[in-house]
Amino acid sequence: MFDAISLKKTGQPQAIVVGVLKGKGLGTAAKKLDTDGSMAAATKRGEATGELGSIAAAFPGNNKPAGRVLLLGLGNAKDLTIDGLRNAIAAAGRQLSAASVSSVRFELDDAIASAKLDDNDTFAAVGESLGLLSWRCETFRGTANPPSAKPKLAIIEGKAARTKSLQLGLGLAEGANFARTLSQTPPNVATPAWMFGEAKKLTKHGLKVTAVKGEALKREKLEGLINVGKASENQPHLIRIEYRPAKAAKTAKPIVLVGKTMTYDSGGLSIKVGGGMVGMKRDKDGGCGVMGAMLAIAKTIKPKVPVVALLCSAENSISDEAYRPDDVLTFRNGVTVEVTNTDAEGRLVLADGLCWACDKEKPAAIVDVATLTGGVVVALGSTFAGMWCDDDKLRDKVQGASDASGERVWRLPLHKEYRDMMKSPIADIINSNPNRKAHPIQGAAFLSYFVDEKVPWCHLDIAGTHAVEGDDGPYIKGPTGFSARLLARLAENW
Ligand code: BES
Ligand code: MN
Ligand code: ZN
Repeated sequence: MFDAISLKKTGQPQAIVVGVLKGKGLGTAAKKLDTDGSMAAATKRGEATGELGSIAAAFPGNNKPAGRVLLLGLGNAKDLTIDGLRNAIAAAGRQLSAASVSSVRFELDDAIASAKLDDNDTFAAVGESLGLLSWRCETFRGTANPPSAKPKLAIIEGKAARTKSLQLGLGLAEGANFARTLSQTPPNVATPAWMFGEAKKLTKHGLKVTAVKGEALKREKLEGLINVGKASENQPHLIRIEYRPAKAAKTAKPIVLVGKTMTYDSGGLSIKVGGGMVGMKRDKDGGCGVMGAMLAIAKTIKPKVPVVALLCSAENSISDEAYRPDDVLTFRNGVTVEVTNTDAEGRLVLADGLCWACDKEKPAAIVDVATLTGGVVVALGSTFAGMWCDDDKLRDKVQGASDASGERVWRLPLHKEYRDMMKSPIADIINSNPNRKAHPIQGAAFLSYFVDEKVPWCHLDIAGTHAVEGDDGPYIKGPTGFSARLLARLAENW
């Protein structure tokens, strides 16, 4: 959409985007800009409905205060949220890009006042929206359909506080966009070792990056990764990324982010059938979101709390060495698992990450993110990610980060009865109950066997929210980078 977005303090923009609330006409700030009445005239046209995301253009005489003014509908003042604003700005951004506009100013004072929006949140949302809108991954285009050139965009904003907020928003979007590019990378390129290579590039932002792989996986008893990854020549990795703030006390406990990073999920011997397999390159999106968060944390947020990311990365493939239904695995914490379905592999690799986090990282809290179940898509669609968290304080923080980012989460229950559903007749637990009951909750219940009771823990199932099927707010068809912005906000407000 835009090749690059820069921020400038002064200069006359080619376009101004003016926020207009439904039924209110031009506000005080907008009227001041309307030197020749062209804006007032535009409000009378049919397309000027004031509905959220509607746009009516005006072309002021003498190009003053700009050659083009977009009157951007923001709906009713009482209903306007930061999330709605993000979507509306994206609609304006699409028009600016289509018109090859290269500099823009945002006049949102009337909307901010009437809808009582926070000024910083508003401009952060503008930065986020335009940043997200600009994502394209064209690495895999060839000679038959080469990408077209994209305009550069300068946002002109004179107020220092707003510039800071725009930068924050752009930084969060950059994290999400990094996650999206990783997600988009096909499985013949994006192997666990490749993901490790991408993580190592983050060292230039001050992050420490290591991995457990090969023989070391055995020494560390990372049984889930070893078994799920056994059938693939692309070796499993536990990738560890560490952020330490400049002045952190030695004893400061980190937030630990655990990401399911299956570079491909064929289902294994319990092979996926019909159309179930295509798209499973995105089964790494939990880990991609976590990695995107680490980029935003290191480069933009720089929070006071240490953060450790653990990416459980493997390829669930098929060969004579594949793990099988009926195998029994003994995990690092001593829990034994009877494999009933090799397609319920995410929980097996996450179990390693959760055990490792509890054992080795002295976590203040753990948040795991995973495209874990098709069941969560049935339950919540693409509107909310499933959230399981029985720690009130952590849940409040996750909810706050969700509200700030617009990455919606909905709480689902943990309960002993669900844990009991996972009991095995021959080992401690099974990895999947063949009945159809509460599938996404079964996943969460399984994971709970690998988290110390004293550690605040939150599980996010993003199988419905990690990608969209078409243009949607600031997104285009493809990955959303879900959780990158939420997790970065979580660290920011810890
Ligand atoms: N990666 C899938 C879940 C998934 C489904 C992600 C759709 C994104 C979109 C996961 O590993 C899986 O296969 N889950 C099975 C679990 C079942 C075998 C217990 C499912 O949800 O059907
Ligand atoms: Mn699977
Ligand atoms: Zn999977």
